[in-house]
Amino acid sequence: MAGGTFVDSGNAKQFDGKVTAFVLVTCFVAAMGGLLFGYDLGITGGVTSMEPFLIKFFPRVYKQMKDDTGHRNQYCKFDNELLTLFTSSLYIAALVASFFASATTRVLGRKSSMFMGGLFFLVGALLNGFAINIEMLIIGRILLGFGVGYCNQSVPVYLSEMAPANIRGALNIGFQMMITIGILVANLINYGTSKLENGWRISLGVGAVPAIMLCVGSLFLGDTPNSLIERGQREAAKTMLQKIRGIENVDEEFLDLVDACEAAKEVQHPWRNITQPKYRPQLTFCILIPFFQQLTGINVVMFYAPVLFKTLGFGSNASLMSSVITGGVNVVATFVSILTVDKFGRKILFLEGGIQMLICQIATGVMIAMKFGVSGEGSFSSGEANLLLFFICAFVAAFAWSWGPLGWLVPSEICSLEIRSAGQASNVAVNMLFTFAIAQIFLAMLCHLKFGLFFFFAAFVLIMTIFVALFLPETRNVQIEEMQKVWRSHWFWTNIVPDADDDRKPSKAQT
Ligand code: BGC
Repeated sequence: MAGGTFVDSGNAKQFDGKVTAFVLVTCFVAAMGGLLFGYDLGITGGVTSMEPFLIKFFPRVYKQMKDDTGHRNQYCKFDNELLTLFTSSLYIAALVASFFASATTRVLGRKSSMFMGGLFFLVGALLNGFAINIEMLIIGRILLGFGVGYCNQSVPVYLSEMAPANIRGALNIGFQMMITIGILVANLINYGTSKLENGWRISLGVGAVPAIMLCVGSLFLGDTPNSLIERGQREAAKTMLQKIRGIENVDEEFLDLVDACEAAKEVQHPWRNITQPKYRPQLTFCILIPFFQQLTGINVVMFYAPVLFKTLGFGSNASLMSSVITGGVNVVATFVSILTVDKFGRKILFLEGGIQMLICQIATGVMIAMKFGVSGEGSFSSGEANLLLFFICAFVAAFAWSWGPLGWLVPSEICSLEIRSAGQASNVAVNMLFTFAIAQIFLAMLCHLKFGLFFFFAAFVLIMTIFVALFLPETRNVQIEEMQKVWRSHWFWTNIVPDADDDRKPSKAQT
């Protein structure tokens, strides 16, 4: 087929172009934004269980923890709100930041948001690493949150816009891959620093490294053609499109983008816009996907793995090692989604992952119930502990090839240009809100719901799996600016999305 023409077979309109080294490198650099989020997710749980850190900043917590020994049951050992509030403050900051990031991403471009995200994170990590009082610690943490909010809002959008449709899933999942690598590296660093006197400073300060990598990297990145057109730089957009697709004639795709942009330009208030009936499906998914992602209970494992394993009777070192194991499984399993997401589609991963998580959660709940009952007294034999570790790893693997990456991919690809920034900001805000909520109440829930906590998450996994089966259309291989089509060919959404919102026909727009 001649360059620049397209085939339109059902939902899969295809433009010519190659997968260029340029687009791969660009996406690799941008995906590093995930490192910041992942590093923080992985580092915090370990640092807040380091004694010198607690003695310095949370002496009351430390004292209470020491006094408590032997007096409380296993489920309630680590229930402390002040400490979880410190941990969670980052997520509230990220939530707020995502709304500012939405405006930055739209008005100044995706690349500016990524750079700012890196910068906030850098200052935050330095303040934390050098903290001499609680104020420095908290302000640093808020800045880290701003960094996460900016990156998580802009990076997935950047990746989805840069990628050719047929490998958009794989490239976008580079972001989740970096999150998992960040978590693993953080676990390993904590493992090493937990034995040092001021190890927590290293753990917190090393966050500056990925931040510098992202700041420097984003200076060299170009912006996406979609964003360049959105900001009136048509020539630059066309050149970028030629570069990332590796062909001269990109006219059809370019005109599609220009059309998308014309529609977007009429929108003065993206937030008011996204609430219109014709965007109901996008808004629904940008809110429910992150909500469900967090209600899988993944962060109970990621965040509290050292505490959880300790609670379940693993020794102190063994518990850190176990979190390294789950961290490793998380990285490896993410590859599975990279390899399969564009071949078999998003839905099958959601469904398989959901069923596997459900089985693992029920098995974990039953094992803990049988051993600890409601009294919380008891411990596992090493065989039982290994079996439990197996179920937890299988749960992490299932998440890592389903709700983990798809929680960032799907919201970033289903929104048309005019609502993309707002849609992604909603995704980040809801994600952060529920990361916060779960971080905040998990230990109290464990204390009160006991093994029932695992059944609580299992119930949500069942609901979300059915929800995806019924309501999510497949978005594999659909051009990002052609996404509106998928709703109208879906049995349910076709009744909601008005016909008047017809696909944008290739216009006569000139360059
Ligand atoms: C989620 C995080 C989670 C991580 C685990 C991400 O997609 O948003 O909350 O900790 O995956 O890998």
